[in-house]
Amino acid sequence: MTQTFAKTDQQKMAVALKPVLAETVQLYVLTQNVHWNVTGPLFQAVHTLTEAQYTELAAAIDEIAERIRTLGEKAPGRMSSYMKLGTIAEGDEEASAGDMVQSLVDANQIVATRIRPLIGEAAEAGDEVTAGLLTDRLTVHEKAGWMLRAMLG
Ligand SMILES: [Fe+2]
Repeated sequence: MTQTFAKTDQQKMAVALKPVLAETVQLYVLTQNVHWNVTGPLFQAVHTLTEAQYTELAAAIDEIAERIRTLGEKAPGRMSSYMKLGTIAEGDEEASAGDMVQSLVDANQIVATRIRPLIGEAAEAGDEVTAGLLTDRLTVHEKAGWMLRAMLG
């Protein structure tokens, strides 16, 4: 594999991807928590949407981690690392359906906000692959935010 951008930039991008990985894992767990524990009239809609979302997130977690490895850094693989690197709060199994959906809106927003400035940084560093990966991830989180917000009316 050929890397056409500087080694220091490769490392910088890999380090920047670590919190993205951590927060994608945190969002994955939060999404499953909602999938399992949501109750009330929104149950079926939320249960179905969250299954599609956590399935997509599982594939993304692998892709982000393997990009970190491709760039030469070890991929954080411990829950304790995710808790340190990520900022998404854990879910509440007893929350109302509305609060659960809102927590997913907020969590998708956190990941999107983290990703957005990194796309330009990656492109500037000549790392088009990471820029592309992050653009794809931003698209997913913005769309998820829309679908979840739409559910709240
Ligand atoms: Fe399920």
